[in-house]
Amino acid sequence: MNIVYQHLRQITESEFVDLLKRSTLAERRPIDNPNCVRAMLRHSNLLCTAWDDGKLVGVARSVTDFEYCCYLSDLAVDKEYQRIGIGKGLIRLTQSRLGEKAKIILLAAPDAEGYYGHIGFEAHRSAWILNPNSALK
Ligand SMILES: CC(C)(COP(=O)(O)OP(=O)(O)OC[C@H]1O[C@@H](n2cnc3c(N)ncnc32)[C@H](O)[C@@H]1OP(=O)(O)O)[C@@H](O)C(=O)NCCC(=O)NCCS
Repeated sequence: MNIVYQHLRQITESEFVDLLKRSTLAERRPIDNPNCVRAMLRHSNLLCTAWDDGKLVGVARSVTDFEYCCYLSDLAVDKEYQRIGIGKGLIRLTQSRLGEKAKIILLAAPDAEGYYGHIGFEAHRSAWILNPNSALK
């Protein structure tokens, strides 16, 4: 197996959704909302991908200013290719595209809670979310 990583290659909406399904992350992403999927690809500005002989097997989709912060929104690896280093490879490639002071920030999916600490991320006790229908008080 020869996994090739890319940071400039675009993917289609259907390739993205298909990979989300193959990774199980589709359960937690709006794959039935084409407008949202389109916006996720159009407006993210750092898309790292992993390929096995032309087959998309991993993605790390981020929104970033490249120097201060990078929100890693979706990290997904095809189930058949998990636990062979591709997730780490995608995060390493993401980090390599950022300035030396930029932080990578993310919210872990329940199944991946143990993953990020294992590979070197620190949990942060002060992360906050304003959900879509929450009014400010
Ligand atoms: C979580 C995910 C991205 C990890 O990618 P991966 O390519 O399988 O993981 P890696 O091969 O980079 O794993 C690196 C190390 O973490 C470990 N690891 C992998 N998945 C783990 C998990 N869910 N929990 C704890 N440790 C995990 C590996 O065993 C490996 O350990 P080692 O270096 O000591 O051998 C991938 O399993 C996935 O796509 N899961 C489903 C979608 C998901 O939950 N995405 C995260 C959204 S926040």
